[in-house]
Amino acid sequence: MTLLSLKDVKRRFWLGETAIDALKGVSLEIAAGEFLAAWGPSGSGKSTLMHIIGLIDSPTSGEIRFEGQDTRGMQDDAITEFRGKRIGFVFQSFNLVPVLSAMENAMLPLQIQGISEREASRRAGAALEDVGLGAFLRHRPDKLSGGQRQRVAIARALVINPRLVVADEPTANLDSDNSRMIVDLMRDMNRSKGVTFVFTTHDPRLLEHVDRRIMMHDGAIERDEA
Ligand SMILES: Nc1ncnc2c1ncn2[C@@H]1O[C@H](COP(=O)(O)OP(=O)(O)O)[C@@H](O)[C@H]1O
Ligand SMILES: [Mg+2]
Repeated sequence: MTLLSLKDVKRRFWLGETAIDALKGVSLEIAAGEFLAAWGPSGSGKSTLMHIIGLIDSPTSGEIRFEGQDTRGMQDDAITEFRGKRIGFVFQSFNLVPVLSAMENAMLPLQIQGISEREASRRAGAALEDVGLGAFLRHRPDKLSGGQRQRVAIARALVINPRLVVADEPTANLDSDNSRMIVDLMRDMNRSKGVTFVFTTHDPRLLEHVDRRIMMHDGAIERDEA
């Protein structure tokens, strides 16, 4: 089943009078359950593509369908709600709230949806167990290692039972052992929960562990290989 399809997606940014074509016509189909990495040099459009795939940003032109639904006609608040129930995000810099515990961080996406504290804490606890942090529920981010922080971020992404997790350079701030661990964890979650993962990296060693690699160059997909 096709989860996501992009047709001739273009994204232009303006810096004053200068147009920057970050995506120059990307077409892509992602099936439910895929484990896919986008790689390529800095400035090639990977982050722009992740933001568009994750429905955080919209293209200048082109079509995006998520589970068959055309997102073009959707109002911003409808997109926000649609995304909040289906898509989890993981970022390079972890983006955890420093004054909140691991548990409270993982509960946030559920509380935004108005889910009760009791239910949110049950689900966040389970998500943190799943990523191996059952013993760290009360720890704040500054008491956790980089790898553990990124695990909290993955638990927070998964707590909504998303169809898709988008991770932009999730290992860029980690050493090679922790990077490997994070990719293995995403892979486990992909297999055990059937969640589709799309992540970016510029570490070619991590590409050995994915089903499909998309190489970006200058705003376009240069290679797409299984
Ligand atoms: N918000 C923005 N405003 C202006 N230019 C941007 C913006 N975001 C990205 N760009 C430009 O778009 C191009 C692609 O950027 P990006 O998607 O961040 O690439 P990557 O993640 O592969 O490094 C770059 O030239 C970058 O400078
Ligand atoms: Mg980037």
